[in-house]
Amino acid sequence: MDRQNKLMLRALRGETLATPPIWMMRQAGRYLPEYMATRAQAGDFLSLCYNPDLASEVTHQPIRRYGFDAAILFADILLIPQALGAKLWFVTGEGPRLSTITDGAGLDALGPVDDIDATLAPIYETVARLAAELPDETALIGFAGAPWTVATYMIAGRGTPAQEPAHALINSDVAVFEALLDKITQATIHYLCKQIEAGAEIVKIFDSWAGTLKGDHFDKYSVEPARQIIAALRARHPNVAIIGFPRGATEEGYVNYARVTGADCVAIDGDKSADWAARELQPITCVQGNLDQRLLVSGGDKLVSETKRICETLGHGPHIFNLGHGITPDADPENVARMIDAVRN
Ligand code: CP3
Repeated sequence: MDRQNKLMLRALRGETLATPPIWMMRQAGRYLPEYMATRAQAGDFLSLCYNPDLASEVTHQPIRRYGFDAAILFADILLIPQALGAKLWFVTGEGPRLSTITDGAGLDALGPVDDIDATLAPIYETVARLAAELPDETALIGFAGAPWTVATYMIAGRGTPAQEPAHALINSDVAVFEALLDKITQATIHYLCKQIEAGAEIVKIFDSWAGTLKGDHFDKYSVEPARQIIAALRARHPNVAIIGFPRGATEEGYVNYARVTGADCVAIDGDKSADWAARELQPITCVQGNLDQRLLVSGGDKLVSETKRICETLGHGPHIFNLGHGITPDADPENVARMIDAVRN
């Protein structure tokens, strides 16, 4: 099979397909017993991320079980802060913890962007193995956190309800905030280029906290860094396809993001209506989304009818089927099979 004919790449080039390609955010995760077994073997989540044998194994698991059209590298958006010298650990049942940056001294203590490969080399090795091993029809997605989302964790040291510590730093010391954002942007360009060179055909930029940025802060701290990253990647790798995910942005924010960044695809969160996306976003770019991930817990007729409604509504333009956010650990693996069946048949 010609590599360029993968369904994912066709949708990303703007083709309208009879059946959309499908994959899921967090498809390698705790809802799968085989993931839990491999994670136990690794010891903990970060050891799993940095072990190319085991990280490629968990990336393959949902492909073997379901035949998704894309595999996403198994890693985390918080590996970049760790590679820049932040301390990072995960508290079971709570989430990530990092050493915090609150002033210029904290920023100055970070290492240079050029040194991140010393930490991240195993991630590139995982990408290279996956590129060699995946089935011919399966596209490989690399990823990074968007600079704003990564900065919010580096400033707050954890996830908080609206990442207020990062907003507070914008107000108290915008120069330090912007220097941090720029450093993360440069590191992200480097990291994603390395993933592409190792074999990622698509990269996705996760801006999970974009929705907390209002007005011109959204333009300056979500749209502009994404625009810079995409321009830099395209200059070096003209064939790479790029998906942006400004989660929680307003409708107007999404349209602006699509126009200004030129992303090949924009992923919409579960709060957005598919009708709106078909009307306002699909004429500009491919749309990815957006089944409510909670339906994979509850299942039933609603799961099938919602899946079909999204496919029909977004079926008149380029569409990649996905969830509004990541699948949760309490989801039923059988419901994932039902969703895929509803998309494909
Ligand atoms: O399958 C995939 O989607 C690929 C791997 C992937 C992970 N994290 C693995 C993971 C990807 C693409 C991410 C992105 C990520 N990580 C984001 C952006 C997407 C989003 O969810 O908004 C964010 C904000 C993070 C940071 C992060 N990592 C948090 C907040 C948490 C804790 C929440 C949770 O679900 O436990 C993680 C941990 C994490 N990253 C897990 C996985 C599979 C769970 C770890 C475990 O096994 O215990």
